[in-house]
Amino acid sequence: MSVTVRVPAKVNVQLAVGAARPDGFHDLANVFLAVGLYDEVTVTEADELRVTCSGPDAAQVPLDRTNLAARAALALAERYGRDARVHLHIAKDIPVAGGMAGGSADGAGALLACDALWGTGASRDELLGICAELGSDVPFSLVGGAALGTGRGERLRPLEVGGAFHWVFAVADGGLSTPAVYAEFDRLTAQADVPEPAASEDLLTALAKGDVHALAAALSNDLQPAALSLRPSLAATLAAGRAAGALAALVSGSGPTTAFLAPDAAAATEIARTLQTSGTCRTTRAAASPAPGATLL
Ligand code: C5P
Repeated sequence: MSVTVRVPAKVNVQLAVGAARPDGFHDLANVFLAVGLYDEVTVTEADELRVTCSGPDAAQVPLDRTNLAARAALALAERYGRDARVHLHIAKDIPVAGGMAGGSADGAGALLACDALWGTGASRDELLGICAELGSDVPFSLVGGAALGTGRGERLRPLEVGGAFHWVFAVADGGLSTPAVYAEFDRLTAQADVPEPAASEDLLTALAKGDVHALAAALSNDLQPAALSLRPSLAATLAAGRAAGALAALVSGSGPTTAFLAPDAAAATEIARTLQTSGTCRTTRAAASPAPGATLL
């Protein structure tokens, strides 16, 4: 028997970052929006825990127990007294180490798939608790849609979205390490008075109304200066997307994927085509939001 779960990528339409906490994490006001790019995680009973991955960027995905899908299976098995002897296969379509929560998606997908395979009877809150232990972005991968994440980003409040938004994502060569980007944020803000992170009311209203122009005006990412400092070439990608007609451009999460908000689906296709030939990124993807969270297929 096998179970397959489909899980979306995310873009952060606001990422407000506070000062480093004693535990090294940062308090956030993190407005997540799930976008229609998906990984699929299939779990099958096996003789031992094994992870495989397919897709154009599969070679960049670790297949050992650092993979969040493996960690999710082990965490659920331990909690409910099961044996994590399963084969987890990841059909990967989300950019790897790109700031789009691809690893978190695989963790949430594996958790939901193993839960269905084993029939643990775990409640939604119990699953969300395991997600939060696996990583700050994993709970959102389970719930999808749009949500405000506070704390490390793991405490979620669902948000209303009044319409579809159309995005283009420019995938860079190579990934960026999330801890390295946060460390650069700390370095860049060492002399500054970092305010408490707070969600932007203008942004939440724009989302709720489905108003693309208001959303474009309100997009922000406090990690963007740090990502640009580590990867200065991203400035040219952002400029190329703006010149191609994007209403707004920003680094997605900790990067290096960059996100471009388009006025409509046709414009997104055109911006993707122009960016693709600009020589400022490896490849581009167009996708709409919001998208549902982890879903059993
Ligand atoms: O929670 P997760 O494992 O995804 O976090 C990866 C890294 O990102 C952490 O080790 C930390 O360096 C950084 N981080 C942070 N503050 C957050 C979330 C992540 O500093 N709220």
